[in-house]
Amino acid sequence: MFIAMNRFKIKTEFSDMFETHWKTRNRFLDQSPGYIRFRLLRAKLPNSLEVEEFVSYTEWVDEECFLEWMNGPNSKRAHSGQESKFPHEGYMGPPEFKGYNIKLEETLGHRTDFRSPYLDQISEKYFCKELPEQQQIPKKCQELGLPPINIGPFEGRLIELWLKSAKCKKGVEIGTLGGYSTTWLARGLGQGGVIYSLELDPKRAALAQENVAFTKALGVEIQVIAGKASDSLLNLKSQGPFDFVFIDADKAGYPAYTEWAIDNLRSGGLILCDNAYIWGGMNYYPKAPESLKYPKSQESLFSYSKNEYKGMSECWNLLCQSPLLDSLILPTGEGLGIAIKR
Ligand SMILES: C[S@@+](CC[C@H](N)C(=O)[O-])C[C@H]1O[C@@H](n2cnc3c(N)ncnc32)[C@H](O)[C@@H]1O
Repeated sequence: MFIAMNRFKIKTEFSDMFETHWKTRNRFLDQSPGYIRFRLLRAKLPNSLEVEEFVSYTEWVDEECFLEWMNGPNSKRAHSGQESKFPHEGYMGPPEFKGYNIKLEETLGHRTDFRSPYLDQISEKYFCKELPEQQQIPKKCQELGLPPINIGPFEGRLIELWLKSAKCKKGVEIGTLGGYSTTWLARGLGQGGVIYSLELDPKRAALAQENVAFTKALGVEIQVIAGKASDSLLNLKSQGPFDFVFIDADKAGYPAYTEWAIDNLRSGGLILCDNAYIWGGMNYYPKAPESLKYPKSQESLFSYSKNEYKGMSECWNLLCQSPLLDSLILPTGEGLGIAIKR
């Protein structure tokens, strides 16, 4: 692994602008083979109010990849200054550049981490191809003013493959929105599949029912049911046992939905829970929800509520402690809880 570090001293009045400017360079790095990750660290100097210090830290698979980026067009664009209004006089002297070649065996702990935005993008592009009808759904939803909170093609493909491997044919989705994830579930079921998808908002439910109509051609029957999931689940009991339950709705409801799933799945059936990290909030696990204090500095970073943390904590407790489940949280970015009923 190769680490490239730059150290800058910046006049305090320009620091915020510099930080914003430097962080936007990420989008150039994201397209570069061999790029792993980038961090920008900022320090207030104890002896000066006028100057702040920044360290930019970039990890690469090896030095060759770093040099390719440095000599390539993206680096030229990122460094040209055309992309920002950062004034040159903000710098206090030239940046100090240092490169380090690190032997992997010196850096790795139990878990290696080669994930990078570049890898995420290329693997998604080649392995998670949407059908043309699927591609239209998020666009259509956005045009109608729905929030862009659907899963992505990566989670979709992952779920499709899990359903296929467990030979699922009948299941429940909790949280439909416009039906995008429902169509990935349909791909996982194939001919003879049946999905009950539960959505609180009747307008969203009606829209989703339209959006998923094309899955008839895959041999899948989808029924979108409007109303509170807790009510609909009571009525659905008689249709079970089910092969899977995909949970992607209100986080406070996750424990009750998980318990319902445990009761109504067949042996070998799957529970899938999206947003298992609740936007970073689960970094506090296993702290008790009532003991949580919100540090001011992190309010914007962790935009979750105590109820959501409580709900997801209880869901994690069920997933990892229930004697009826074998579970794992997959590090998808948002975190995807997955459990197999014994
Ligand atoms: C994250 S979105 C679902 C996204 C969808 N699974 C996808 O990936 O395309 C969550 C949805 O759950 C719905 N929802 C929230 N609380 C609910 C409840 N108690 N019962 C049923 N649906 C609920 C919301 O209206 C919203 O449309």
